[in-house]
Amino acid sequence: MRRAIGSFFLILFMLFMGACSREGRPYRIAVSQCASGQWREKVNSEMLAAQHLYDHHAEVSVACAYDDTQLQIRQIDSLAASGIDLLVVAPTESAPIAEAIGRVRAAGIPVIFFDRKASTDDYTAFIGGDNVEAGRTVGEYVSTLSSPVERFRPSGRPKVLEITGAMSSSPAQERHEGFASAMLRHPEMDYTCAEGDWTSDKACIIVEKLIRAGNRPDIVFCHNDGMATGVYKAVVETGLEGQIKILGIDGMPYEGLEYVKLGHQVGTYVYPTHGEEVIRLALDILMGKPYERENVLQGMMVTPDNVDLIALNSRELLKQNDNLITIEDKLERYFGLVGIQNKIILAAVVTILLLITAFILILRALIQTRKTIRKRQQVNEEQTLFYTDASARRLHDIFDRPDDDLPPPRTQDMIFAEQLNEAVRKHMSNPNLKMDELGDELGLSRVQLYRKVKAITGQSPVELLRQMRLQRAYALLQSTNKTVQEIAFEVGFNTPGYFSKCFREQFGKYPTELREG
Ligand code: FRU
Repeated sequence: MRRAIGSFFLILFMLFMGACSREGRPYRIAVSQCASGQWREKVNSEMLAAQHLYDHHAEVSVACAYDDTQLQIRQIDSLAASGIDLLVVAPTESAPIAEAIGRVRAAGIPVIFFDRKASTDDYTAFIGGDNVEAGRTVGEYVSTLSSPVERFRPSGRPKVLEITGAMSSSPAQERHEGFASAMLRHPEMDYTCAEGDWTSDKACIIVEKLIRAGNRPDIVFCHNDGMATGVYKAVVETGLEGQIKILGIDGMPYEGLEYVKLGHQVGTYVYPTHGEEVIRLALDILMGKPYERENVLQGMMVTPDNVDLIALNSRELLKQNDNLITIEDKLERYFGLVGIQNKIILAAVVTILLLITAFILILRALIQTRKTIRKRQQVNEEQTLFYTDASARRLHDIFDRPDDDLPPPRTQDMIFAEQLNEAVRKHMSNPNLKMDELGDELGLSRVQLYRKVKAITGQSPVELLRQMRLQRAYALLQSTNKTVQEIAFEVGFNTPGYFSKCFREQFGKYPTELREG
């Protein structure tokens, strides 16, 4: 039975595990984004779309710091404390975030730097575009853009202005490094650099000031397309549309690519997103698969010559990613439903198993009760036999009272029991039988008789006499046709009424009922 109950709980446990997981718990991957904007939204949606794409499911959650370093530090700390399996971070600023990353690593959580890095070597892997390469590529392209007009200026050198992103962030530092190195190779360019902060407003102000000061640039390279729109605004507002060439980085379908198509910009650089690759790298790390620590994603220069094709492809990819997200949502809902169904099935199985267990226990109890009743009946019958049928007497049966602490019967006791039984049977019909007379018969005083009978039977002689009278009556009722009255007198009761009462106390029914039954 114990084994059956053990197996029952094992089955329950397995069912529970089955109901709770579809292929093990999904890994919890938290993404800490430094900022919002089109580029970030694209990469976020790619990561979300990749949640069920690989061997193991991922549960991706994204937190945005909106360019606020202190907010990002708080977010990182609380994410690490929330029991995530891995952190993906694009740090707002390289230096201040490093300490928070140290705390995450100290908690044993793997960290992937994505797109941007922090000033620490304590990270698990990096994945993102090559920003030095991006700056260099745009620089080389810029060197081909100067028109004859610009070249035949009195100064003889086209003015190139670079507006950086926030220089406390790694992409701004690296893009600047790449662009400046290209400009160094092209001394024919009159190159200057101004620090921006990734926002279009700041870029707009910088350019507007220069124009109004009569120091307008011929070419402006902004570290992202967002800033390029700020520059375009300044150019339009100062009536110089078409006279200043603007370039940016990011190459989003509805941002940079669109501006190149519209002619607002003369170029952009597709800064790769590939959120699905980020999730793949995260899962490889979590599943203990081999992975590269440095993962560089390929970018590409976009010019008015190739923009149509690239824009078409990008939009197509965007649409497909949207479709993937829709599938993801449906999958999530489906898995949710399956989860509920599994729980209902589990509850039903548990109920059935509990009912079966209850049924088995009740059945066992019933069988046990029946056995006890039968055993009691047997003891009663055997006692009856002893008191009434000398041939079937066995002392240990006679005085076998399992609940009493009586010592086991001895031979002398058996002899005494025989004599006592005989004496009682002889005088039983005498309703006025005194214990003294019974003692005389056995050669004992009244007190001695009491002690001996009590020691062997646990009853006083009076009780024993009464019980034997009733047992005898029971046998007579069953084995003769004598009336109840006759039997009452025969076994030594003065009145049949009192006899019936005592009989019922002893056997649970009246003598007449025994006859009828
Ligand atoms: C968005 C962004 C992009 C840029 C990238 C660099 O937050 O500013 O425009 O290419 O970050 O990390």
